[in-house]
Amino acid sequence: MTVLAIDQGTSGTKALVVDPVDGVVAVAEVPVTPVYLPGGGVEQDPEQLLASVLEAGRQALSRAGGRTVQVVALANQGETVLAWDRRTGRPLSQAIVWQDRRSEPLCTALADDKAWVAERTGLVLDPYFSAPKMAWLRQHVTRDGVVTTTDTWLVQQLTGAFVTDAATASRSLLLDIDSVAWDPELTALFGLDGEELPRIVDCDEIVGTTTAFGGVLPVAGLVVDQQAALLAEGCLTPSTAKCTYGTGAFLLANTGDKALRSTSGLTSSVAWRARGATPYCVDGQVYTAASAVRWLQDLGFVDNAADLDRTAASDPQGVLFVPALAGLAAPWWRPDATAALTGMTLSTRREHLVLAVLQGIAAQVAELAALVAADFGAPLTRLRADGGLTRSRVLMQAQADLAQLPVDVYPSQHATALGAAALGRLAIEPELTLEQAVPAWTPGTTFEPLWSEDRAQDHRARWRAAVDATLPQEE
Ligand code: G3P
Repeated sequence: MTVLAIDQGTSGTKALVVDPVDGVVAVAEVPVTPVYLPGGGVEQDPEQLLASVLEAGRQALSRAGGRTVQVVALANQGETVLAWDRRTGRPLSQAIVWQDRRSEPLCTALADDKAWVAERTGLVLDPYFSAPKMAWLRQHVTRDGVVTTTDTWLVQQLTGAFVTDAATASRSLLLDIDSVAWDPELTALFGLDGEELPRIVDCDEIVGTTTAFGGVLPVAGLVVDQQAALLAEGCLTPSTAKCTYGTGAFLLANTGDKALRSTSGLTSSVAWRARGATPYCVDGQVYTAASAVRWLQDLGFVDNAADLDRTAASDPQGVLFVPALAGLAAPWWRPDATAALTGMTLSTRREHLVLAVLQGIAAQVAELAALVAADFGAPLTRLRADGGLTRSRVLMQAQADLAQLPVDVYPSQHATALGAAALGRLAIEPELTLEQAVPAWTPGTTFEPLWSEDRAQDHRARWRAAVDATLPQEE
């Protein structure tokens, strides 16, 4: 069955037409533009998000050579929220993007509740997750309408249904992660009691139909983008892990059918709920990866992302970069952290800075891989990698060197949409198993570590010291 799979991400919306035999037969991409505000605000125009979904979907279909699709699947950003009118569907606020840190005071005020919230949700009280931003919207923007993640609004626009999937719900801080149900004590904690919350659906459930793409098509395969990539990369068994290098870099590892409570500072979520099973994953986050590259570009250090490898020096000459342009996540959880470039001298040139930025992203991901290993009690054996920045061989080599792991690069640039496509197919092909829905793949490239263990450990120790030096003193 052919799927129109839409990946609504932070920097753009991508749509694929995916045929079970021929694979990806058409692709369309429409950029979206986050607005960066002083004070850590990051917003998007909801109407632009919707328009990008419709346009990317229609463009992909127009390029599919007359093929018809049988289902529409949708991956979403996970923790981006907005207020909207349930009756008219009209947005009542801008979309507050997952990178937005303005709800930090709200999280600080709840510090005493940290422990039980972590135990109940698998998450950390941080502005990254949905509920603090929902509460911020209620306190600062509007008390009208409903506040939900963007998937709920987009699906309402497409089908009229008021739903979210189990994986997206698990990124909210409002979900009991074991029972996969909204938790009244959590909604009360964030001052969101009495709010109308969407029905939680399975990722392989048909939630309604849409006429937005011509004809009447079922909509199914709702899922968070990171979890969709985990699925596409075949991380179906415990301990298999992937990192997606998109706007941020997100390392996720499958933990099987139990929600692990990380002892190393990672977070736990539902990986997906499909075929009646609910596997979980742990995840760690680098909030700015392609965002850090875009920042380099805005400063004029590189012309575009394709330029990174041509510009990067072969040695950073002691320069280190902490990619905390939107705060630091696991295991520091310091939304107040800011980025740092250290070790510069009069001989430092832009090529050293460019390499330092790539190594900084890789060093943080290497820390996350070590935390996953600590939670599992055994090191990872390989890391699967996808996302736009995997095109940088310098970054991928730095990743293999610093994590001391072979890095298998996914052969397609479309892991997230392909994961959503697999879930969409499951919804309309009752006989299909999860394993059958996920096509086997062999790496486009594998990067083996070239650094010695000692060199990697030394670099990482210096990088961790740079992080410690840049953290604001806690009161
Ligand atoms: O948690 C946010 C993340 O899922 C966003 O992904 O691809 O838009 O960087 P991306």
